[in-house]
Amino acid sequence: MNAEAVIRVLNRGLSIEYAGVIQFLQASSLVQGPYREVHAGFFRERSEASWKHGQKLGRWIVLLNGLPAVEPAPIKQSTELTEMLRQGLELEGEAHRTYLEALGLVADAAALRLFVEEMVQDERLDIDTFERLLGQKTVTVAAKEVKLKPA
Ligand SMILES: [Fe+2]
Repeated sequence: MNAEAVIRVLNRGLSIEYAGVIQFLQASSLVQGPYREVHAGFFRERSEASWKHGQKLGRWIVLLNGLPAVEPAPIKQSTELTEMLRQGLELEGEAHRTYLEALGLVADAAALRLFVEEMVQDERLDIDTFERLLGQKTVTVAAKEVKLKPA
C-alpha cells in the first residue's frame, strides 16, 4: 500500500467533511419557510455527520503517520432550500468519489479497507437522501392494492 497516496486522498476527504460541517451548519441557520424547523434539524444532522466523519478520518490519517489537513474544501451557500439541497448533493457526491478513489488504494490493508468501505457506504446513502429530497428518485407502484394469497 502506498501510504502517502492514501493520506493524500483521505486528507482530500477530510477537507470535504470540514466543508460539510460549515456548509450544512450555515444552511441550518439560514433555511426559511413553513418547514424551517424540519429542514434546520436535517441540515444540523448533516453537519454533525460530517463532523463525525472528520474525526474518523483524522484518526486514520495520524495512524498512517500523516498530518490531518486543516483547510476546508470550497463551501457553497444559498438562502434557497432547493439550491441548498443541490449543493448538499454535490458535496456528498464529491465525498463518495473521493472515498471510492481511496478504496482503490487500500485493497491489501483489511482494517483500513473496512473503514473506507463504511465511508463509501455512508456517502452513497447520503446521496440517496438528497436525491429523494430533490424528488430525483422515481419508484413506481405496480398495483394500488396488494392481495395476500390465502395460506
Ligand atoms: Fe461524510
